[in-house]
Amino acid sequence: MKILAIESSCDETAAAVIENGTKILSNVVVSQVDIFAAYGGVIPEVAARSHLEAILPVVHKALDDAGLTKDEIDSIAVTHTPGLMGSLLIGTLTARMLAILWGKPLYATHHLKSHIYANWLGDGLVPEFPLLALVVSGGHTQIIYMSEHNQFEIIGTTRDDAVGECFDKVAKILGLPYPGGPSIAKCAEKGDIRKYKLPHPKVDGLDFSFSGLKTAVLRAVQNELGLPITTPSYELKENLSEQQKADFAASFQETACEILLEKVARALEERPEVKSIVLAGGVSANQVLKEKAQDGRFGGVKVFIPELKWTGDNAAMVGAAAYFEVVSGVKETDPYSLSIAPRTDIA
Ligand code: KG4
Ligand code: ZN
Repeated sequence: MKILAIESSCDETAAAVIENGTKILSNVVVSQVDIFAAYGGVIPEVAARSHLEAILPVVHKALDDAGLTKDEIDSIAVTHTPGLMGSLLIGTLTARMLAILWGKPLYATHHLKSHIYANWLGDGLVPEFPLLALVVSGGHTQIIYMSEHNQFEIIGTTRDDAVGECFDKVAKILGLPYPGGPSIAKCAEKGDIRKYKLPHPKVDGLDFSFSGLKTAVLRAVQNELGLPITTPSYELKENLSEQQKADFAASFQETACEILLEKVARALEERPEVKSIVLAGGVSANQVLKEKAQDGRFGGVKVFIPELKWTGDNAAMVGAAAYFEVVSGVKETDPYSLSIAPRTDIA
């Protein structure tokens, strides 16, 4: 089955053609990251307008690169939740229009499901069920138990900020460019992970909390500079040396990664039947997180991490998720009534 998949939930306009959930026939991503680097974050209205400009050429290129015509596509898949409303609207309207015009079945997929299914892309080994997915993105931090394809149980979630958001906010405090995750990772290379002691939040069960860690970094920076806690965060960066920035970045990254993996270890204790652990979402690009996840702390449980090109937002993962929905018996969506939603849980 060849699926033309479309993704536009945040600031990447993407389309891909995926065969049977794993084979990538084409993959096109137009990122707006350069636009938003100037603003230090995504502006939803600007993102929607950029999607509108890019979406048809991107879809066209995905078909072209796959060497296929519309008649050779079996179905269309699109992200319909969660994400920015204006961004989701452009992708879903395009997919609905194409499904109606071309007479193809339409599948609406959940963005986090797609991040998890990025682990099935390509021709390598695939995760075995039951599994634990650590979903770490700009908007989510969750541990999800999957007993089989398309069966999701959220067993841990953040009570406030997502870990990606925390990377982005700490980067802002340190005066590092947007997006914060890769900037922190790069800056941390020259830093000392033990220089600043940052707290691990005390949250019951498998839930997370990241807003306290962000504030702890803010207080530690103010303290290091001998400034009162009333000093606004935007006034701190010019007083920090490059070495101090690197030490803060390294200490923060180390703490954030340990917090995530401690909860995964705990989840594994609660679910000893688990055969695989999968990492998913933008933060799974983080090299320290990847190395720690694979350092043997999870015993014989195999750890899967998507290839770097599939960790950020892309449409190949949407095609994979949609395929495994289809084989799990999920029905097609009515293109005339497909709705979008900014925040929903994976189901
Ligand atoms: O999954 P994603 O591309 O978009 C959402 O669905 O949110 O995730 C974006 C998040 C951002 O917060 C970004 O800073 C973070 O992923 N990120 C990273 C790295 N690369 C991207 N965080 C830590 N280390 C990285 N190397
Ligand atoms: Zn994402």
